[in-house]
Amino acid sequence: QPVKLNPLMEMHKEAADFYHQILMTTKIGERGLEYARSRQLDDETLKHFQVGYAPDRGDLLLTYLREQGFEDSLLSQSGLFVQSKDGRLFDRFRDRLMFPMTDEAGHPVAFSGRRLSDNKEEAKYLNSPETSVFNKSNLLFHFAEAKKHARKEGHLVLFEGHMDVISAYKAGVKTGIASMGTSLTEQQVYMIRRITKNVIINYDGDDPGLHAAERAVGLFKQAGNFNLGIVVLPEKMDPDEYVKQYGAEHYQGAIKGAISTTDFFLYRLKQKYNLNNEREKVNYLAEAIQEIAGLNPVEQDLYVNRLSEESGVSVEALKVNLSRARRRNR
Ligand code: GTP
Ligand code: MN
Ligand code: MN
Ligand code: MN
Ligand code: MN
Repeated sequence: QPVKLNPLMEMHKEAADFYHQILMTTKIGERGLEYARSRQLDDETLKHFQVGYAPDRGDLLLTYLREQGFEDSLLSQSGLFVQSKDGRLFDRFRDRLMFPMTDEAGHPVAFSGRRLSDNKEEAKYLNSPETSVFNKSNLLFHFAEAKKHARKEGHLVLFEGHMDVISAYKAGVKTGIASMGTSLTEQQVYMIRRITKNVIINYDGDDPGLHAAERAVGLFKQAGNFNLGIVVLPEKMDPDEYVKQYGAEHYQGAIKGAISTTDFFLYRLKQKYNLNNEREKVNYLAEAIQEIAGLNPVEQDLYVNRLSEESGVSVEALKVNLSRARRRNR
């Protein structure tokens, strides 16, 4: 039987439909559709994610929702409008491609709007403010959909942004979720843990992306009991760009090739040191061994062999340091 939604959720459902219809069927929406096309979003994808367009007008959504019978007192609590000093309401989102953000059951509760222009004065993304139905620290983009697919796939894939989730989806990776710029929170980690312990982190290949991935690994480890994989992309690419450049098949390969947290740790460590300098190399090996000392014996053996190969230091010498590190850990 139909469940009666909270009125703010009812309103967001109407708003999402409205923006979507504008994008797909109207003249005023053509500008949005052109932008969507430039980002290779086809009709099927636009429909699946219920992407919409908010035209550059101050009263379009306002008028529509009033016509639907929503009172101004409710409209002003929705986050969809800004209020002028004299109390008048105006559409918050203007000339933006609109991505509805849904709660765990798939009901839209907020929006994220991507600016169309290159105008750097304006934020690239504008999100709804927090409201009684939207708390950004416990919402993950595409979570309701992704968790259905996670049952079959056995994992979730964590991204930085919507466009990454969407491109991955198009490329057949349907278990994508995103914390959307705001760095991952503990609550989000617990939401994920209720669905699966297997998480693949696929952040942007740039330095902020790598830092964010390190931080995410820390959060997952703190919560405990996760199997993590990390996909490291080429430096100047995010998943959206990677899919477009290399195609779906390649991308699926990259997901399957996700590396362990130890490999990721060592990869990052290597970037911090100049390994042509003997002193730095010694420090690198010391830190690497400290990390390896926390692993199980088989893994320790594996990594010591690898370290020996790449550093030219004998396995025996590394093992001496390893057992010292193990004693320190006890
Ligand atoms: P595109 O340029 O549209 O491909 O976005 P992106 O996802 O590649 O953006 P980026 O990697 O810079 O940022 C990752 C995520 O952070 C975005 O998807 C947004 O959710 C969020 N973000 C980026 N810029 C802003 C901003 O100006 N304001 C807010 N609130 N969030 C932002
Ligand atoms: Mn689906
Ligand atoms: Mn980024
Ligand atoms: Mn990005
Ligand atoms: Mn991008």
